Amino acid sequence: MAKMFKGKNILFGVTGSIAVYKVIDVIRALVQEGANVSVIMTEASCKFITPLCIESTTGCKVFTDMFKDTFSHIELARKADLFVIAPATANIINKSANGIADDLLSTALLVYRGPLIFAPAMNWRMYENPVTQKNLQYLKTLGAKTVGPEPGLLACGEEGLGRMSEPDKIIEHIRSALTQQDMLNERVLVTAGPTREHIDPIRFISNRSSGKMGYAIARAAARRGAEVTLISGPTYLKIYDNIKLIEINSSDEMYNAVMENLSYATMLIMAAAVADYKPVKTFTEKIHKSNNFIIEFTQTKDILYEVGHLSKRPFVVGFSAETGPKVDRAKEKLFKKNIDMIVFNDISKSNSGFDVDTNEVVIIDRLEQKELPLMSKEEVAMEILNRAMQLKNF
Ligand SMILES: Cc1cc2nc3c(=O)[nH]c(=O)nc-3n(C[C@H](O)[C@H](O)[C@H](O)COP(=O)(O)O)c2cc1C
Repeated sequence: MAKMFKGKNILFGVTGSIAVYKVIDVIRALVQEGANVSVIMTEASCKFITPLCIESTTGCKVFTDMFKDTFSHIELARKADLFVIAPATANIINKSANGIADDLLSTALLVYRGPLIFAPAMNWRMYENPVTQKNLQYLKTLGAKTVGPEPGLLACGEEGLGRMSEPDKIIEHIRSALTQQDMLNERVLVTAGPTREHIDPIRFISNRSSGKMGYAIARAAARRGAEVTLISGPTYLKIYDNIKLIEINSSDEMYNAVMENLSYATMLIMAAAVADYKPVKTFTEKIHKSNNFIIEFTQTKDILYEVGHLSKRPFVVGFSAETGPKVDRAKEKLFKKNIDMIVFNDISKSNSGFDVDTNEVVIIDRLEQKELPLMSKEEVAMEILNRAMQLKNF
């Protein structure tokens, strides 16, 4: 696992909501990714879950009493790189917007300067109350970020906007908050996953692409502040609402989606495994069993080639998946398709390429060729974006 939070001090405030049981997963994930987490629990939160439970499940020190550890309110806030309040009650939101400092958490909030995330959780009436809304808006104008709340069934039995976001979504927001925002001016179009070329309504030709590499690139660009649109073939992967998702099936649909969104993009990264061939004819009804059924194929449109040769185009990154160490073929593609960068990967290796969480790639551009060791797809995504940004700003 990539240690994204290595060396980062995260101060985690826990308040009195029934959603408190979800935060153990959040804190554990932060610790696993290398963060030093200190937890402040309010008196009300201790009625829902004990400090002992949080300490023993996460290994993090929990602070509850401002008068027990002298100056803890200053020291904890001073050393924090990020302050997360999850769950955030109506009470802590309304208190902190008004500078009230009457316990350890609210006092540390007043001391703190830096990125701040609230994950509100409350009954929908409390959330939609104009007082809460006004205070939340005010906190946002001061730079605070919010994640959620989500609509759905609330603990009180009512339906509405007030559920705390799920741990993975909160963690993704934390990653963004701790990532350097060097892509704020970029609009990145990413393609990912396989395409399906239908033979009849039931059968299709596809490939082993899981979409993991493209999704990792989309997430990494979004974390760095870019506006991201992901055009994805069928996958089982999840994406958050900070990325616009366009779902497609066939290579023709992929082509259309790329062309329709191209003029808006400053960068196109084509990580999808788009089929090179499609059946000449797609039957509208199921084909019944017979002897020697022969399918005739025709070439699909070469999206990279077409985009590469447009007179006005964004910065273009392609992928070249090969069976074997055929870096030269990838290099040839870079020039033939007239693109800016190409990422070569040897999919014949068991821990690289399709459907695994790691990849071993060579990043090739017109100036250099960089061989990277085996690393997680998250790390590969960061390396690709680093080089693309370097070349763009050259
Ligand atoms: C069972 C129960 C569930 C509660 N859930 C929430 C909640 O989800 N959100 C909220 O804002 N308040 C909730 N409250 C009310 C808060 O616990 C109360 O406002 C408290 O003073 C918050 O203190 P704190 O912000 O210092 O933790 C709940 C109270 C009870 C008894």
